[in-house]
Amino acid sequence: MKDIRLLLVDDEDNFRQTLAKRLAKKGIPPEQAENGEKALSILEKKEMDVVVLDVKMPGMDGIEVLRHIKKKHPGTEVIFLTGHAATQDGVDGIKRGAFDYLSKPIEFEHLLSKIKQAYDKVVREEEKLREAEFRKKMRQQMATTEKLASLGTLAAGVAHEINNPLAIINESAGWLKLIINREEMAQMPRKQDFEMALNKIETGVDRAKRITHQLLGFAKKDDSVLVEINLGDLADEAVQLVHREATNKDIEIVQETQPDIGTIWSDPYQLRQVLINLLNNAIHATGSGGRITIIIEALNGEINLTVQDNGQGIPKENLDKIFEPFFSTKSPGKGTGLGLFVTRGIVEKLCGTIKVESRLGHGTRFCIRLPRYCEIKEDLDQDERIPFLDNIAKHKGSTQ
Ligand SMILES: Nc1ncnc2c1ncn2[C@@H]1O[C@H](COP(=O)(O)OP(=O)(O)O)[C@@H](O)[C@H]1O
Ligand SMILES: [Mg+2]
Repeated sequence: MKDIRLLLVDDEDNFRQTLAKRLAKKGIPPEQAENGEKALSILEKKEMDVVVLDVKMPGMDGIEVLRHIKKKHPGTEVIFLTGHAATQDGVDGIKRGAFDYLSKPIEFEHLLSKIKQAYDKVVREEEKLREAEFRKKMRQQMATTEKLASLGTLAAGVAHEINNPLAIINESAGWLKLIINREEMAQMPRKQDFEMALNKIETGVDRAKRITHQLLGFAKKDDSVLVEINLGDLADEAVQLVHREATNKDIEIVQETQPDIGTIWSDPYQLRQVLINLLNNAIHATGSGGRITIIIEALNGEINLTVQDNGQGIPKENLDKIFEPFFSTKSPGKGTGLGLFVTRGIVEKLCGTIKVESRLGHGTRFCIRLPRYCEIKEDLDQDERIPFLDNIAKHKGSTQ
């Protein structure tokens, strides 16, 4: 009962003050109010757990005060003090939400135990509320995760279907360009307008291709190929692919791989995509003369893959959003907002986790944890795994 916040409301000064003194001696010094108006104004300033409330008071009576309390402070419990022959007031109070009532003259120990019971109820209700809030939050989070998962599957399917018509548009635009550049077309009316329009088509197709390429990072489970990978080599490969863009911005990419790191079993195509996505983002966020570091280390039987940069960093309010599909702070020509969404999807599919830390103006660090072996096919039993392992040599070429 130590931290209990108690308010004692009674217009009889003597009675109230004596009671307050005795309560204080028991370690519950109450706030005091001599009428209903004062009680409500105290409650406005400070939340109370329990209010001990006299029913018969001049001005606003107990029932009226109770009505206000229940409306504005529903978490506060009220104990009524009624006159000797006025138990009906107490019954009315309970009907209107009071915790209980005691008839005057009251027995102090009785009041004390009622206050304790009321306080226990307040604590229980608060716990219930917290639990309900927690459940609500979890439900929302699960709904978001499920939504993202089905969105990922749908997006990958759409991307796959769109690739063919895109290729046709691109080829046709290229073909038309060839034709209008032939000698016999030299005098073609509005030739420049046509050329401009065809360039626009090609730029648009490029952008659409980037989007489908990113989305296809969500290749279906069964499309994953598990092979033995040397992560250091894979990182070298990814660095080669972004090398030109980094050099153009005078950005240095360093790799720090723990010696004898060994190999992991994973999907090289998808892991390469992850590294490229992270490196591209780091390059975009880092100014000339900046530095990007890839760290690969073993930790508790798992592999830690870190990509960190000393670039612009991510504002706190964006940290929750960067993994959402289509969240991008880049101009539409530069960003799709799919890189990190796809990256997280891949990492989770490969049984790993991804975390981000960032300091605005100082840089960003993405840490990926991967197990050495990830069984993507949950139903893969021992017999099936043997021929699958035999196939490794065949796939190995793709990791080198
Ligand atoms: N290394 C980084 N440094 C700063 N911001 C980053 C970094 N990586 C990602 N971001 C932020 O996260 C956003 C989403 O990234 P991403 O999903 O790859 O989409 P995109 O790169 O197409 O914008 C970026 O637009 C950027 O604001
Ligand atoms: Mg990106």
